[in-house]
Amino acid sequence: MTSPRSNWNYPTAIRFGAGRIAELPDACRDAGMTRPLLVTDPFLATQAMTGRAIAILNEAGLPAGLFADIKPNPVETNVYRGLEALRSGGHDGVVAFGGGSALDAGKVVAFMAGQTRPMWDFEDIGDWYTRADPKGIAPIVAVPTTAGTGSEVGRAGVITQEATHTKKVIFHPLMMPKVTICDPELTVGMPPHITAGTGLDALAHCLEAYCAPSYHPMAEGIAVEGMRLVKEYLPRAYREGADIEARAQMMSAAAMGATAFQKGLGAIHALSHPVGALYDTHHGLTNAVFMPYVLIYNRSAIETKIERLAAYLGLTGRFDAFLEWVLGLRRDLGVPHTLEGLKIGPERFDEMSAMAPEDPTAGGNPVPITQDTARHLYEEALAGRI
Ligand SMILES: NC(=O)c1ccc[n+]([C@@H]2O[C@H](COP(=O)([O-])OP(=O)(O)OC[C@H]3O[C@@H](n4cnc5c(N)ncnc54)[C@H](O)[C@@H]3O)[C@@H](O)[C@H]2O)c1
Ligand SMILES: [Fe+2]
Repeated sequence: MTSPRSNWNYPTAIRFGAGRIAELPDACRDAGMTRPLLVTDPFLATQAMTGRAIAILNEAGLPAGLFADIKPNPVETNVYRGLEALRSGGHDGVVAFGGGSALDAGKVVAFMAGQTRPMWDFEDIGDWYTRADPKGIAPIVAVPTTAGTGSEVGRAGVITQEATHTKKVIFHPLMMPKVTICDPELTVGMPPHITAGTGLDALAHCLEAYCAPSYHPMAEGIAVEGMRLVKEYLPRAYREGADIEARAQMMSAAAMGATAFQKGLGAIHALSHPVGALYDTHHGLTNAVFMPYVLIYNRSAIETKIERLAAYLGLTGRFDAFLEWVLGLRRDLGVPHTLEGLKIGPERFDEMSAMAPEDPTAGGNPVPITQDTARHLYEEALAGRI
């Protein structure tokens, strides 16, 4: 083998542990904020834990504003309204508080704080991020309340472009939160279906990163252990939401998935993004529907790797044992086996099949995805053919 060459990034400072939300003022000070804007979604804005986070900031002499106009699968209007709130309130940083939707929107609001160009100029294409003024990026503290997207340790935000109904990735290396508080107590209130969907997003991140063909053995190591944590703890967190050990391990798995996926994602995400953008389905749940069909499609390229993974996970058997485990986990967590379960028929397959190969995650799939193969995969996922 010739000497490999690639760029690696570790994530950020993480304060991990139950109850550590109490350290939010310290985290904000570490990040250089004096007047944070807490960005969350409308449901979380009504929850006691959010009120408490704002209260501890205020009590610590960090007057905090609240912006909660964020929809699931956030859109550009959410970002621009948040930006108005940031500027008009004189805030000097963002506490991104919530699931991936609030985290992504909050991060992009902070990123846009001092930019003069429109947000779409910073899509994750080539070196477009160099168009941004790094001094115009406000500091970010991330506080996840779901365990799935790993956006709390990521350098990007996923925002839906309404004009084209497309999920776009806005990227900048400095969009990485300066400090992340991973407090598993914040996730105990997630209802089972959200626990399942978000936890399976973490699995999809680890699995796709592990299978992506680029060279990044550190990411692979992280992905493999992330999958072990999902296997052991996601069923527990789903059955018993107050199981704090399971919640903590899933919080790690989520951060590990996003750390690993700098290596690449793949067809699960490439097929899922058009569905999320057109039908507003839950991201992780949608990924989970596609997972076995994509595994089969990629089989020839990943069989040896999946055998190694199956052995690590303690499964008896090889590729088929792993596939069976995925199918069983999906079933146990109430994930629909076909697209019909997400209320999706073939009506927009033409559009979706054109979008999937263009998605930025498509390039990481071990077997190339074309318009024809994307259509084939959508058809398999509708028919439930394994
Ligand atoms: N930045 C990234 O790298 C990345 C990676 C994967 C996904 N994403 C994006 O993240 C978004 C999905 O995020 P998500 O899966 O976390 O879902 P979400 O943020 O949309 O939240 C789903 C629902 O769960 C609720 N919720 C959140 N925390 C809760 C809690 N503790 N208790 C009860 N309810 C709670 C929310 O209010 C919401 O109704 C999508 O837009 C997706 O594209 C981003
Ligand atoms: Fe994802």
